[in-house]
Amino acid sequence: MTENDFIPKPYANSVENGRFTWSSPSNIALVKYWGKKKDQIPENPSISFTLSDCKTITTLSFLKKDLSTALKVTNEFSFDVFLDGEKKDDFKPKIETFFKRVETYLPFLRNYHFKIETTNTFPHSSGIASSASGMSALACCLMSLEKELMDANVASSAVEMSHEYFIQKASFLARLGSGSACRSLEGDLVVWGHHDAIEGSSDLYGTRYRFEVHKNFKNYQDTILLVDKGEKQVSSTVGHNLMHGHPFAQQRFNQAHENLLKLIPVLKNGDLDAFIKIVESEALTLHAMMMTSMPYFILMKPNTLEIINKIWAYREKENSKICFTLDAGANVHVLYPENESMQVSEFIKNELVAYCQNGHYICDKIGFGASQLTIEKK
Ligand code: PMV
Repeated sequence: MTENDFIPKPYANSVENGRFTWSSPSNIALVKYWGKKKDQIPENPSISFTLSDCKTITTLSFLKKDLSTALKVTNEFSFDVFLDGEKKDDFKPKIETFFKRVETYLPFLRNYHFKIETTNTFPHSSGIASSASGMSALACCLMSLEKELMDANVASSAVEMSHEYFIQKASFLARLGSGSACRSLEGDLVVWGHHDAIEGSSDLYGTRYRFEVHKNFKNYQDTILLVDKGEKQVSSTVGHNLMHGHPFAQQRFNQAHENLLKLIPVLKNGDLDAFIKIVESEALTLHAMMMTSMPYFILMKPNTLEIINKIWAYREKENSKICFTLDAGANVHVLYPENESMQVSEFIKNELVAYCQNGHYICDKIGFGASQLTIEKK
């Protein structure tokens, strides 16, 4: 598939108004994406666990502009955004930029007035980025509308948009909203970025990891320790850009290819010791890239390091398969197999909660991607 394959043919139908609701989860990368080219093309391939409970639920209501006397027919994008029922005009520039980036692929965008109502299952100020779940949920809602416009509704010549195309294009659009969002559409493991050893992998969208995965990874647990809920000092966008001209950039991109290749047999044979080595090294490398950027910066906090040391000590003492990973922030994702759930939650309560801001943490696990909640159209 190329970008051009996502430009639709003239639509068969017209849809006046309606609404769609989708729920889409967050994801946590095992091999990290850090550094991008133009148009959100990643410098290296990445792979993530899709999460289950940290998600965004978005309702997109739409009304065709020329139907309403109240709405002036202009050629502007017309939309309002609400978070938890409250109008959020400060979210509009991000969505406006997203609409501009995707309008070649969704030519109907200027024909409607949209109401975007969104809510997250995790607290907004938790330091958990809602861009992956938020952008993927919005992309799915827009694809539901495109599917209605596209599907020929004459039974005899019914041409339905395939589920595969729907998800692929939703992922393609989500990527243009926020890179790693393209890995949230499906589960339980998703690859984004071309890798020679992974057929079908693409820089343009995420694809479900199709090689064999050992039962050790079934229901893999992710407890997110909220170390710092504040706004990040350096955004991901700035961080990605600092990989241009970074002295270790090329070595890092090569390493990500190698780590993804090494992960394939590890995921197949369930070797958790090898898994831990790759995942923790990836997390620390990501932060090492930040510390060696110019200007340099540190997103970890003292408590991030305290938690990492406690995890290492517990693993050694209990012969556990617990490990950690980090995203672009101070929070720690604690990963462990389901059969250790009881002991690890005791450990978290007794020894790690003290390092979380206000004692807050979120229990999540590997999940299966976006799902549609409601459909209404006229
Ligand atoms: O999708 P972005 O631009 O927010 O970047 C995400 C980068 C990391 O979370 C640090 C790594 C990843 O692959 O998700």
